[in-house]
Amino acid sequence: MRKRLILVAGALVGMMALGSLAGCDNQPPKPKASFASTDVTGIDYAKGFELTDHTGQKRTLADYRGKTVVVFFGFTHCPDVCPATLAELAAVKKELGADGDKLQVLFITVDPERDTQQALADFVPAFDPSFVGLYGTPEQTAKLQQDYKLFVQKVKNKTGDSYNVDHTAGSYVYDPQGRIRLFMRSGQGPQAVLNDLKLILAGA
Ligand code: NI
Repeated sequence: MRKRLILVAGALVGMMALGSLAGCDNQPPKPKASFASTDVTGIDYAKGFELTDHTGQKRTLADYRGKTVVVFFGFTHCPDVCPATLAELAAVKKELGADGDKLQVLFITVDPERDTQQALADFVPAFDPSFVGLYGTPEQTAKLQQDYKLFVQKVKNKTGDSYNVDHTAGSYVYDPQGRIRLFMRSGQGPQAVLNDLKLILAGA
């Protein structure tokens, strides 16, 4: 009888030990952040770029490590979506207050023929002095379109002397470790953008 009690007690202690070990492993997973944008963590494209910024400096994505980076593709002649998106991002950055300094907005042109360094310098920082415009050669831009799976199509205007560029209207978001995290469609609204960027800034 006594031996059996000891055995039972031993088994209980063993189970408790196991239980506490299992408890270590079985901690409830961190609730997944609920993003308004599409969570693209782990995709095997949109991994970075080699371009030139609007001050003439060579730039890669790694230069912005430590910041939450929003990459938006567009062109300065864009009549609607591009300026609206940059204005929205500028408003969101202000809304973030001091945390806005941990945000880096990059505007990459899909129209390098017209978007020279000077054109980008005139256009991009006007929305926020910290925003950076980036451009590449036509070859670099073509590679970028593949690397980011962008839709880009020139469309001549009626008189044929100018053109518009239909393009993917959305932004890719990288976390401070340089990992691709979100695709934010244009038109989600500033509240959704603010909410998602706050989550990324907070380490989600
Ligand atoms: Ni546009």
